[in-house]
Amino acid sequence: MENLKSLQGKRMINVAVFASGSGSNAQKIISFFKNHSRIKVALIVCNKLKAGVLNIAEKESIPTLIINRDNFEETGYVPELHHYDIDFIVLAGFLWKIPSVLIKNYPDNIINIHPALLPAYGGKGMYGQAVHKAVIDGKESESGITIHYVNEIYDNGKIIFQAKCIVEEQETPESLAGKIHILEHMHYSQEIGKILERKNIEDKMEN
Ligand code: GAR
Repeated sequence: MENLKSLQGKRMINVAVFASGSGSNAQKIISFFKNHSRIKVALIVCNKLKAGVLNIAEKESIPTLIINRDNFEETGYVPELHHYDIDFIVLAGFLWKIPSVLIKNYPDNIINIHPALLPAYGGKGMYGQAVHKAVIDGKESESGITIHYVNEIYDNGKIIFQAKCIVEEQETPESLAGKIHILEHMHYSQEIGKILERKNIEDKMEN
């Protein structure tokens, strides 16, 4: 496992949250780590100027980085992430594919949350309501959330955590989205904390 450079000499682990939607998960993560002694949400990265997450960032006084696609694909904004001393990246409603330059610079240090039980109902175009509609159309009796490492293929990295909910007969994409959001809010921040804690312990054992 790749070391988190921050964990040895530096006190805080700086997390960047990439989000381009309403930001409800980002808000939960920010609140969860607000008074944490070792983990800090240090940057919000967003590709939409009108995204709700930007209001959250302003309210919480967290710096933001607005990105454009060409530069993202070319540089991964690695210099900017280094400028903010970012150690770990959390995707929370971020829909662009992560370029290899960014993955190479943050090996094993980028995670995503997906609103279904991967490996089913993942891949390009599978986000938000489209996922829930596909699950209902597929007559699934359950859905859920998947937290996974990010690699160069959409929704394909190693699975870290899953939680399930029931899909009722009368379920709509909107009602399922509500259940999924509850699961996401319940688990994502805690799992981030556990992942960073595990890395901390592994780093100490290796050194
Ligand atoms: C979340 O449900 C997340 O799982 C989903 O976007 C939503 C963002 O909600 N992500 C994907 O679909 C990625 N493929 P939020 O802006 O309220 O946190």
